[in-house]
Amino acid sequence: MRYETIRELSIPKIGFGTWRIGGEGRPDTSQEARSLAALHSALELGYTHFDTAEAYAAGHAEELLGQAVRESGRGRETLFITSKVSPEHLGYAEVLRACENSLHRLGMDYLDLYLIHWPRLGMNLADTFQALNKLVADGMVRHLGVSNFNLKLLKQAAACSETALLTNQVSYSLPDRTYEKNGVLAYCQQNDILLTAYSPVKRRFISGNRQLKELAKQLGVTPQQVALAWLVRQPRVITIPMSFDPQHQAENLAAAELDFSEAELAPFQQIQE
Ligand SMILES: NC(=O)c1ccc[n+]([C@@H]2O[C@H](COP(=O)([O-])OP(=O)(O)OC[C@H]3O[C@@H](n4cnc5c(N)ncnc54)[C@H](OP(=O)(O)O)[C@@H]3O)[C@@H](O)[C@H]2O)c1
Repeated sequence: MRYETIRELSIPKIGFGTWRIGGEGRPDTSQEARSLAALHSALELGYTHFDTAEAYAAGHAEELLGQAVRESGRGRETLFITSKVSPEHLGYAEVLRACENSLHRLGMDYLDLYLIHWPRLGMNLADTFQALNKLVADGMVRHLGVSNFNLKLLKQAAACSETALLTNQVSYSLPDRTYEKNGVLAYCQQNDILLTAYSPVKRRFISGNRQLKELAKQLGVTPQQVALAWLVRQPRVITIPMSFDPQHQAENLAAAELDFSEAELAPFQQIQE
């Protein structure tokens, strides 16, 4: 596995997302066995960074992730667990309560990374960051970050937080260059902040674009692997693909090791939706 090293922390270039684990907006019991199997295979394959949120399956994704980790026998210190506070829980007391609830559902006593999931109009960033920094001071959270923050909000958040922000988690992929175009990627790279790319392979464009398929074939990999290799080659960029399929999980993990040259990846730079 390739790692990104930032402020003495080494974090895998490719982690595992948990959106749709245990359901979508609410728990879905029909997804229970499939979800636990996906988490177990991800743990067995060697994923160590797991990204979840209180919003995923209304907390059930956190419960299943905690259960899978306990059943795997993996030591907590070998894993890097990210969770997120929902926009409706921003505010001092609400953030403290939301974190406590996430830890309870996970059955863990700390989070490696805690993010504001989405900004909310009129949110009180100062109060929210006061609570987030208290969580760090109290040892319940190791690192702080945000998600879906544009450049203006990211700068405001960075100015509010006593603890340096570790990441801004945003949608970023070959076909979706919004956060490259709006200056967030460059700001992160210049200010030692990770850009965690979510939805890195989901778009139909990646499986359906003829040119992308052809170029991937020439390199002997899948279009999804090219899309991931293109991301993780970039400084300060990590990503968190999700898959229920053990073969896809293995291919995604292996994509971190693909070491294509700039010349080999150059044609992909031009491919956009
Ligand atoms: N912060 C936010 O607001 C936010 C928003 C969205 C997502 N996220 C996080 O980011 C994670 C990833 O994003 P995502 O789940 O939206 O999208 P994604 O990981 O880009 O795509 C998931 C989809 O791609 C398929 N897939 C994955 N690997 C594949 C491969 N190697 N070959 C073919 N198909 C493959 C999966 O199907 P199979 O199961 O069949 O493989 C699944 O349908 C989420 O799980 C979540 O943790 C965060």
